Amino acid sequence: MFSSQSTMLVTGGAGFIGSNFIHYLFRQPDFEGSVVNFDKLTYAGNLENLSEIEEQYGGKRYLFEKGDICDSEKVSAVFAKYGVDTVVNFAAESHVDRSIHGPAEFIQTNIVGTFTLLEAARASWAGRKDVLFHHVSTDEVFGSLGESDFFHENTSYDPRSPYSASKAASDHLVSAYFHTYGLPVTISNCSNNYGPYHFPEKLIPLMILNMQEEKLLPVYGDGKNIRDWLFVEDHCSAIYAILKKGQRGETYNIGGENEWTNINLVNRLCEIVAEKKSKPKDHYKKLINYVNDRPGHDRRYAINCDKIKNELGWKRSVTFEEGLDRTVSWYLANLQWIDRVKSGAYRQWIEKNYEAR
Ligand code: NAD
Ligand code: DAU
Repeated sequence: MFSSQSTMLVTGGAGFIGSNFIHYLFRQPDFEGSVVNFDKLTYAGNLENLSEIEEQYGGKRYLFEKGDICDSEKVSAVFAKYGVDTVVNFAAESHVDRSIHGPAEFIQTNIVGTFTLLEAARASWAGRKDVLFHHVSTDEVFGSLGESDFFHENTSYDPRSPYSASKAASDHLVSAYFHTYGLPVTISNCSNNYGPYHFPEKLIPLMILNMQEEKLLPVYGDGKNIRDWLFVEDHCSAIYAILKKGQRGETYNIGGENEWTNINLVNRLCEIVAEKKSKPKDHYKKLINYVNDRPGHDRRYAINCDKIKNELGWKRSVTFEEGLDRTVSWYLANLQWIDRVKSGAYRQWIEKNYEAR
């Protein structure tokens, strides 16, 4: 029962996918509602990603609340203040390598934070059925595949990193709130996203950035781990389809049906960047540097997303070639964004624009 007038609480809306999702929403002619972006602004949150949205809709259909999803008082107050009827929960610690070095934040935000949001939704909605809690999750909860086979919605969970274990726990909590309390929920498990505003610690933006700076390109292990890549806008359209048509209590896999070994992907990126910067085709390939493998590194991810295609009519619209081209172009045109994200200077921007109000 999606309403075009919905008041949507988007948690983690200043991050990579969350900010792309807010941009996507405001481009939809059938969305006339409002968005409350609730974000703690960790190192990964950057309000500058949304400056055009703030300019056009700020204080009207777009509201920002700085807060931690683990803060139950603040979360409940936001539900009450805005009359939230839809939650899209992106907020998370999202980087596998960071979870290996320091899992505590992952347990806190991903598990305790999701629990806190669920409790606030349950109390605020008090049995309403015209509401929805959508939880954004990952294919990493399913563990690692061999050379064949795919993750299906009913594949057993087998997480291997503190990150994926914390996401698995949060998925189970969301599902439990549906079965136990009848809270209207949906869950999506998506493969690797790429596109604009991706924090430059993740493979694709890190490689583009390192090429720009003529730095080594660290490839973990033998480089033959496989990931399935989806352009971020196609993830956003899948989530929007679930909000509009998803069955309560159901899980939907989302993927690009686009498997690449890391080394093949890095080689392809080297060629695209070289072409755009008018360098010889192999110019950046000499920077490729095999480094120690990530502990517990999942070998292969591959998604079967027939359910969302057949039941909700979703399909991806951006080919990998087009998506990579748009992504590389975006980073090369936004080097200042990268500098600011890395330097933390955007925090001053936040203070100037938000905390002073
Ligand atoms: P991101 O790290 O870019 O952004 C996370 C956002 O959450 C940031 O804005 C951060 O400030 C905010 N945040 C972190 N802790 C918070 C807290 N305690 N309270 C409020 N806000 C908090 O992450 P992303 O890549 O955009 O991922 C978003 C979601 O999608 C995550 O739940 C992730 O597990 C899931 N996901 C990501 C991918 C991917 O490829 N990036 C794929 C599938 C699923
Ligand atoms: O599958 C969905 C997941 O994709 C999301 O749930 C996570 O939030 C998101 O970060 C992403 O996780 P990955 O671990 O797959 O992404 P990352 O970009 O960190 O790594 C992609 C692959 O590249 C992985 O096999 C590890 C490898 N890698 C990564 C980095 C950062 C390298 O070889 N070198 C690197 O420097």
